Amino acid sequence: MAEEKRFTKASWEIMEQLLEVDNLEEALAGSLEIIVRTLNSEAGAIWFLDPNTDRLSPLFHVGPADISNITIENGQGIEGVVTKSGKSVLIADAANDPRFDGTVFDDNGLVTKSMICVPLDNLHEVIGCVQIINKQDGSIYDQEELVLCERMASLAAITIEEKGLTIDLGEKKEVLVRLTDVTKEFAVGDNVLQVLKGINLEIYKNEFVVVLGESGCGKSTMMNIVGGMDFLTTGTLTIEGRDFSHPSEAELTKYRRDYIGFIFQAYNLMPNLTALENVQFIAELVEDPLPAEEAIARVKLSERANNFPGQMSGGQQQRVSIARAIVKKPRLILADEPTAALDYTTSIEVLSVIEDIVNTQGTTVMMVTHNVEIAKMANRVVKVRNGRIASIKRNLHPLHATDLVW
Ligand SMILES: Nc1ncnc2c1ncn2[C@@H]1O[C@H](COP(=O)(O)OP(=O)(O)OP(=O)(O)O)[C@@H](O)[C@H]1O
Ligand SMILES: [Mg+2]
Repeated sequence: MAEEKRFTKASWEIMEQLLEVDNLEEALAGSLEIIVRTLNSEAGAIWFLDPNTDRLSPLFHVGPADISNITIENGQGIEGVVTKSGKSVLIADAANDPRFDGTVFDDNGLVTKSMICVPLDNLHEVIGCVQIINKQDGSIYDQEELVLCERMASLAAITIEEKGLTIDLGEKKEVLVRLTDVTKEFAVGDNVLQVLKGINLEIYKNEFVVVLGESGCGKSTMMNIVGGMDFLTTGTLTIEGRDFSHPSEAELTKYRRDYIGFIFQAYNLMPNLTALENVQFIAELVEDPLPAEEAIARVKLSERANNFPGQMSGGQQQRVSIARAIVKKPRLILADEPTAALDYTTSIEVLSVIEDIVNTQGTTVMMVTHNVEIAKMANRVVKVRNGRIASIKRNLHPLHATDLVW
């Protein structure tokens, strides 16, 4: 009876999600989160079929593994079989199930033990599937739970039919940075504090990734490891396929100098240098910089080039710090709460500059923020919870900075 109540509540919540928001992708993602929470699952995903390639990709997933870049042929694997046949599958015990080859997730943080997979259709055709993996308590899924998933899928179907959903999952992405089972421990007095507990994450070339998560969950620690400012305890970090888990001092210097641009909440400008000089100073340290004037122009500060930081607003100072990052022509820009100290209008100015860099320079940007509205600009939104990746969502239609409201 308690079960029944819980499921009814979940169905209502899902219905609200699906009917009340205007962004269907968000609604589907929210519905999956409700299912995962209600069924106490370890992971879940919504897979969509790309009709052009006849392959399935996850648009949104919850759990510790980064499966964003995985694609599965329609008809292959459990996800493909469910999509092709339009029939649900309940795998109670994967280890002893002949339908399951057990290899989908086990190289990136999750081994499937029990699974539910139900088709997602828009009344005319199957467009993908909803998948739930492993119960947190190790027990196995039952028929009733399968029914809840099917109920969610049919509610989604009605909404998709009504609102329309265009899926263009695009090309397979090239991986720039890969974190595999990364942990980080800090010694605090006599104790060891485990801050990262097994991070699995890929960052692709020319994407804009936003990282969200509660204070203290490990966002900055993760970003500092990616930026070579801190070191992982166990696991691996690769940069364009090269192992960078334990770089030498020389490699590290070159990486931080030429490859990475940092933007922080504090602008860290030199007060006795003008905007232009602050940028020139960095340009002189790197091998093949942009002309400093051009970097200043890209952040739309040419008119302020000869001003000192004290003569500029917070937003203008932050744009100088962005110019300082892009003058290096970095492959990857790491931005840790770059707008936290700015008001709305100045934040939008700064975000517009960042959007422009991603769109025109082919740069990858990874940005930590507490502002969920900013996440709507991103190609992918990564949520971190207590030292692990909690979920990853792809935005098929990222907003422009100028369309954000808070
Ligand atoms: N050098 C350090 N030594 C000891 N503990 C640390 C160190 N750096 C971070 N921590 C701890 O690690 C945890 C995660 O810190 P981190 O700065 O990564 O969090 P965050 O997600 O960026 O939080 P916020 O949103 O507040 O910036 C915190 O509990 C923090 O106190
Ligand atoms: Mg932080």
